[in-house]
Amino acid sequence: MITATWHGHSCFSFDFDATKVIIDPFLSESPTADIKPDEVEADFILLTHGHGDHLGDTIDIAKRTGATVVAPYELASYCGAQGIEVHPMHIGGGYDFPWGRVQLTIAHHGSALIGDDGSIIYLGNPCGFLLKVQEKCIYFAGDTGLFLDMKLIGDRNRLDLAILPIGDNFTMGVDDAVTAAEYLKPKVVIPMHYGTWELIDVDPQAFADGAEKVGVKAVVLEVGESYTME
Ligand code: NI
Ligand code: MN
Repeated sequence: MITATWHGHSCFSFDFDATKVIIDPFLSESPTADIKPDEVEADFILLTHGHGDHLGDTIDIAKRTGATVVAPYELASYCGAQGIEVHPMHIGGGYDFPWGRVQLTIAHHGSALIGDDGSIIYLGNPCGFLLKVQEKCIYFAGDTGLFLDMKLIGDRNRLDLAILPIGDNFTMGVDDAVTAAEYLKPKVVIPMHYGTWELIDVDPQAFADGAEKVGVKAVVLEVGESYTME
């Protein structure tokens, strides 16, 4: 059984039987998160890119739990230099972890850490994840605009679940995310990266209605709510 729980913004924790995986744990600074970093149990932390609303509390959680950070090479190297376990990967590459396969997909976005003084640490390319766990296939888009290669991902994989940003401004908005769902053809789509701040406050029901029109079932989670796959 697989359980995916939304912790607001782009943070999802997955329970893959005995293994706990969390993606983009932006919690202490998130206006909408339902948990605090010190409540997180994690064996692996997957990071899509280095922006603060994704890297979030990764370093603290990894230091406390001993979790391994899986991320694009440049971002993984940055995390490794903070003294935590890392597994660097890059776009197109996949790796079979004991709990499942992770493949990095493209994402059209940025990836940098901006210091309080405006200094920029560039952290390579952002990514999405294709997860193959217990016969299930999950696509986590990360922060991205719509791209035609989503069709390729949908054609080559029978997706049980896709998790897509819908908040507009920094990522796809509702209309583009509906087209993404059409390209990906997942059994179920869950929206993310909206409602955190006014700037990305879009109506998830508009996305759900649009997805339904293109034949994809949307599940709109409340923060703290879980979606389970048998
Ligand atoms: Ni971002
Ligand atoms: Mn973001």
